[in-house]
Amino acid sequence: MSTVVITGAEQGLGLELARLYGQEGHRVVAGCLDPARPDIVRLAGECPGVTVHRLDVTRDGSVAAFADAVRSGPVDILVNNAGIHLRKWSPPDTVSFDDWEATLRVNTLGPARVSFALQRSLASAGGAKLVTISSDWGSVSNHPGTAYDYCSSKAAVNSVMRGIARNWAASGITVLLIHPGWMRTAMGGADAPNLPADSARRVKAVIDGASAADNGRYMDTEGNDMPW
Ligand SMILES: NC(=O)c1ccc[n+]([C@@H]2O[C@H](COP(=O)([O-])OP(=O)(O)OC[C@H]3O[C@@H](n4cnc5c(N)ncnc54)[C@H](OP(=O)(O)O)[C@@H]3O)[C@@H](O)[C@H]2O)c1
Repeated sequence: MSTVVITGAEQGLGLELARLYGQEGHRVVAGCLDPARPDIVRLAGECPGVTVHRLDVTRDGSVAAFADAVRSGPVDILVNNAGIHLRKWSPPDTVSFDDWEATLRVNTLGPARVSFALQRSLASAGGAKLVTISSDWGSVSNHPGTAYDYCSSKAAVNSVMRGIARNWAASGITVLLIHPGWMRTAMGGADAPNLPADSARRVKAVIDGASAADNGRYMDTEGNDMPW
């Protein structure tokens, strides 16, 4: 049985990853902005290994309290999944700088803050996986020409995690950046081709199949390298 920590687990991809790991009997620590959300409460009722904790990845105090709750043992897998994409369909040149800052706080600083807070728990697992859910829109070379805020937040988190991959490899930690595909979630919208449950299955397969040789890779759900 592994301990799996997932941020942003009350809906979308995070909820479905929590469900998959919980149904396999792992200890799942689900970090949620609102731990009373019905779907995650129901999942915790169905899977005894799933516990739900309040977590706002933008706040030091919230992350510290969350890390205290997690630190009772090693963490085998951390999935930095929480993310936002504000005003998705507005023309790129009308981007709000307040939204841009908020996006960087959640999508870039959030994964860094949570990873640093859990560094010792990851190191003590021996062979832990530190996973960040990135995006194809985090690719600099394939920039879609829209959403400067969201794209830069994912490109920046890619950079942060590449740095961590170099520094934490000596602790046996394998760092992965995974693009989950376009998903039919609150973020992805109704036109997206992938159900979050299907994407979660594919993301989990990539995580479970990864080894130290994959440290620092930016991948799609087939395990192919994404262009940086
Ligand atoms: N959807 C897509 O097509 C797509 C494509 C590529 C990459 N991604 C990435 O995949 C990940 C999951 O996306 P999704 O589609 O499942 O999105 P989603 O359904 O909107 O879920 C995002 C989750 O993050 C949580 N969250 C937001 N701000 C947070 C904060 N400050 N602290 C803690 N949790 C916070 C949300 O909580 P609330 O529900 O309480 O707001 C929600 O549970 C994200 O990193 C996203 O960037 C998504």
